[in-house]
Amino acid sequence: MGEKKLSQYQETLQSIKEIAEELGYEEAEYITLLSPEREVTVSLPVTMDDGSVRVFQGYRIQDNSARGPYKGGVRYHPEVEIEEVRDLALLMSLKCSVADIPYGGAKGGITIDPRELSETELERLTRKYAEKIYPIIGAEIDIPAPDMNTNAKIMGWFKDEYSKIAGVQVPGIVTGKPVEVGGSLGRNEATGLGVSTITHAFAQNQKLVPEETRVVVQGTGNVGLITAQCLAKEGYKIIALSNVAGAVYNANGFDVSVLDLANGDQKNYDLLTAQEGSEEIPMNELLSVECDILIPAALQNQIRADNADQIKAKIVIEAANAPVSAEGEAILIKRGIKVLPDILCNAGGVVCSYFEWVQNLQHFSWTLEEVNTRLIAKMKSAFAAVLAMQAEKNCTYRQAAMLIAVDRIVKATKFKGKY
Ligand SMILES: NC(=O)c1ccc[n+]([C@@H]2O[C@H](COP(=O)([O-])OP(=O)(O)OC[C@H]3O[C@@H](n4cnc5c(N)ncnc54)[C@H](O)[C@@H]3O)[C@@H](O)[C@H]2O)c1
Repeated sequence: MGEKKLSQYQETLQSIKEIAEELGYEEAEYITLLSPEREVTVSLPVTMDDGSVRVFQGYRIQDNSARGPYKGGVRYHPEVEIEEVRDLALLMSLKCSVADIPYGGAKGGITIDPRELSETELERLTRKYAEKIYPIIGAEIDIPAPDMNTNAKIMGWFKDEYSKIAGVQVPGIVTGKPVEVGGSLGRNEATGLGVSTITHAFAQNQKLVPEETRVVVQGTGNVGLITAQCLAKEGYKIIALSNVAGAVYNANGFDVSVLDLANGDQKNYDLLTAQEGSEEIPMNELLSVECDILIPAALQNQIRADNADQIKAKIVIEAANAPVSAEGEAILIKRGIKVLPDILCNAGGVVCSYFEWVQNLQHFSWTLEEVNTRLIAKMKSAFAAVLAMQAEKNCTYRQAAMLIAVDRIVKATKFKGKY
């Protein structure tokens, strides 16, 4: 019989064990990181518009609370299943720890293709989910946020339902809300601003001059487009971009300031192809365009064992979650390509969520400038810590980020005292 393949969650657990041992910890000191603190499965009966009733399956997994309340998004996707939610919850514990914000990690999800539901059905489903997980969440207990296929509007419904049951307004129960109901200025742009802050800091560290640095970005959504626009403002040359509409190359660099998230993928693509010097290229060639910095900001598992040898970048910045597989990374590293990990690069979103929560708890809103200044400072300090750890251990940047994350969680666990 062949060996059973480890799930992504089991692989993450394995790397945590290795990291904790590298840090010199005994198993008793890190054992609590190896299982979620609480897992809840809920069934969600929803009356559909035609009067029929469908029952959906939902989850909330609270991974670790050593460093603070649980924090993590809620995804609506047909492939949501408990083992994946476990892994995502654990990654949130690590991401909050690397970013040094006072949160643990959690994740939630509902197994549903939201395109199958009308808006009113989606609202009823969201309200039912809030009601069913109400007993285990709270503004100082566990704070959900948007993730795949969930957005500010859904967070607004969630907050409203929670507040109704609580009998008081609880804006801090979720982050990523519309600004009109307690969301933070800058939240939509935060992940891209964070990615560009890390990219710029690393380019400086590698002695790259922005005007001579060619950048390729996969994805022109929330993360990819804002990252490209922030980097272009710093002087970087964005020479290739792609989205579901296609891939386009321009050796002179694009004017990305004309793009707008509200345009959607097709219109932004048309605006790029219309620029002088632009040429359309096959989608699968985008990742192998010769450049200095490659930023996959669309999907997971884009750089793998079968294509990592074709990457012609000096640096890969993981803006999406897990765009580089473990095998893909090993090949890149062997070829001298530096990879900055997702738990560092895309932490800007959760850092700004933290700022939103702080504003909610204080009932006091910050200006956009205050939000962005604090965000940039937080990202720079997380980057500096990872850089220092990498230099000390002579390891990969991912290992350095993991070493910091695990060390901080284990130390916080110790300060909780004995069980
Ligand atoms: N939005 C956030 O705050 C945030 C935070 C952390 C991590 N992430 C991760 O970043 C990634 C992107 O998130 P987003 O919010 O920008 O999503 P989005 O839906 O706004 O944008 C995704 C973009 O990727 C493009 N795309 C999809 N398939 C593609 C393909 N095969 N080739 C090229 N482009 C393709 C889409 O056309 C779109 O432009 C995801 O992995 C997400 O989990 C997002």
